[in-house]
Amino acid sequence: MAGERSRGVTPSDSEHTSFDTSVAHVARVYNYWLGGKDNFAADRAAGEQAIKAFPNIVLSARANRAFLARVVRFLAQEAGIRQFLDIGTGIPSANNTHEVAQSAAPESRVVYVDNDPVVLAHARALLASDPKGATDYIDADLRDPQQIMAGAARLLDFGRPVAVMLMAILQHIDDEDDPYQIVATLLSGLPPGSYLALSHPAKDIDAESMAKMADTLNRTMAEKVTFRDRPAVARFFNGLELVEPGMVQASKWRPASEAEAASPAALWAGVARKSR
Ligand SMILES: C[S@@+](CC[C@H](N)C(=O)[O-])C[C@H]1O[C@@H](n2cnc3c(N)ncnc32)[C@H](O)[C@@H]1O
Repeated sequence: MAGERSRGVTPSDSEHTSFDTSVAHVARVYNYWLGGKDNFAADRAAGEQAIKAFPNIVLSARANRAFLARVVRFLAQEAGIRQFLDIGTGIPSANNTHEVAQSAAPESRVVYVDNDPVVLAHARALLASDPKGATDYIDADLRDPQQIMAGAARLLDFGRPVAVMLMAILQHIDDEDDPYQIVATLLSGLPPGSYLALSHPAKDIDAESMAKMADTLNRTMAEKVTFRDRPAVARFFNGLELVEPGMVQASKWRPASEAEAASPAALWAGVARKSR
């Protein structure tokens, strides 16, 4: 059940959410790749077609979740971060941001943001905060960063550092929607000592298969994808200080084991600090 200080979407809101199951959506396709049960026939069909194009997508999705957990642990334990803004949350899975953050620092506050009604329907699980901390959920689109920041201000104190997490979401923002400006807008409202953590499907790792998968997903899924190469993903960190080991393949970012490091993750990933 939601902790005392959890806010945002109430269970009655989420219970009345309806959604179209005939078209594949990324939150549910990703849930299928992760072995979850919150997906429908169209999502499974799209997920399977993508697996045919790029068989490592399942390992890649898992490596991305493992990266997310390592990053949140690093931010809470080593960087002293107590406020998290997790945009493109996805359907709850193992090691959700508030669980990892609050296991290291129970007072952590986490605001989740997603624009998918299925994720909204699961908001209750995301709002299950440790009573010492707090969680919130905002039903919003990343293309409207001002709305996100206004909503996040209900729970987060922008006078203190915040970690903005953009895990496997920026590929859904076309170049025409200027994803770099969106990221800059999010960070501009935050004080020095804040962090940007992101992962992004790579156009230049396993390039041929990734191009095939992008074509497949763009035919089958409601949300379109733009995979980006190393320099294009690195640009998101302009003006920030990357922490060690810099921007790397997601599985190579501070792996907990050799097996984790060996995962064929087709994502660029990194964590950077805003110093001024
Ligand atoms: C591939 S999943 C990643 C989930 C999670 N961040 C992770 O890394 O495990 C992408 C998520 O971003 C959400 N999403 C896609 N485009 C979005 C947008 N424009 N605004 C908000 N959320 C979006 C989807 O609904 C989905 O839940």
